[in-house]
Amino acid sequence: MAILEISHVSKFFGGLAANSDVSFTMEAGMIMGLIGPNGAGKTTLFNCITGYYPPSKGEIIFKGRRMNGLQPDKVCKLGMVRTWQKVRPLAKLSVVDNVMVGALCRTNSLKVARAIALEQIEVVGLSHKTDFLAGSLPIGERKKLEVARVLATKPELLLLDEVMGGLNPAESEEIVRLILDIKARGVSQMVIEHDMKTIMRISDRIVVLNSGEKLTEGSPEEVVHNQAVIDAYLGESHA
Ligand SMILES: Nc1ncnc2c1ncn2[C@@H]1O[C@H](COP(=O)(O)OP(=O)(O)O)[C@@H](O)[C@H]1O
Ligand SMILES: [Mg+2]
Repeated sequence: MAILEISHVSKFFGGLAANSDVSFTMEAGMIMGLIGPNGAGKTTLFNCITGYYPPSKGEIIFKGRRMNGLQPDKVCKLGMVRTWQKVRPLAKLSVVDNVMVGALCRTNSLKVARAIALEQIEVVGLSHKTDFLAGSLPIGERKKLEVARVLATKPELLLLDEVMGGLNPAESEEIVRLILDIKARGVSQMVIEHDMKTIMRISDRIVVLNSGEKLTEGSPEEVVHNQAVIDAYLGESHA
């Protein structure tokens, strides 16, 4: 079953088409990689999908339901949540309080929210930092906190925006394991990631954006051998 259908989505900022007539479908349970050079429109597409921006054109269909115009909190309640490329934890709150904010999407009880939060903090391997201030965490742990926060909303579809950005290889590997672990729990994921080797390894399917348009879509094997993709990435230092 398709969990997400993106149908002819465009997003204009003045004269700039950050997304232009993008269409693709995501099956439930899969990891979809979303790649493309800087400025290709990846983050904008996440913003359109999760309700932070209304698309200028086209439709976002989640579990058969049209999502256009729904606010992010409503989208989250329906089971779809994203992380931010630039992580912004509530710096003066503890790790557990930050994750409780996510859990409060599912319950009004602080006690239940705390239990959910502690569980997800353990999933991401931050139990030893439960009572630390979020602002005191190094970047690698902030990224894990961000994942715990979204997991606490009990999503069916998780959208991860460069969750490995700025991490060293060992930290990235921990996040890869976490993403595969989340997949094994049955949660669908769309992952924006610059490192080609990593995205090849974790994705069931990959969509490539370039200048706001969908360049191609296919298995990791198909995408990496696609000449248009190779051309789009030429000169990209971090591709
Ligand atoms: N809020 C905004 N206002 C105006 N332009 C924007 C806004 N957000 C993104 N853009 C522009 O849209 C294009 C795509 O950006 P973005 O989606 O962040 O790309 P990516 O995540 O692939 O690097 C860029 O040219 C960017 O400057
Ligand atoms: Mg981006």
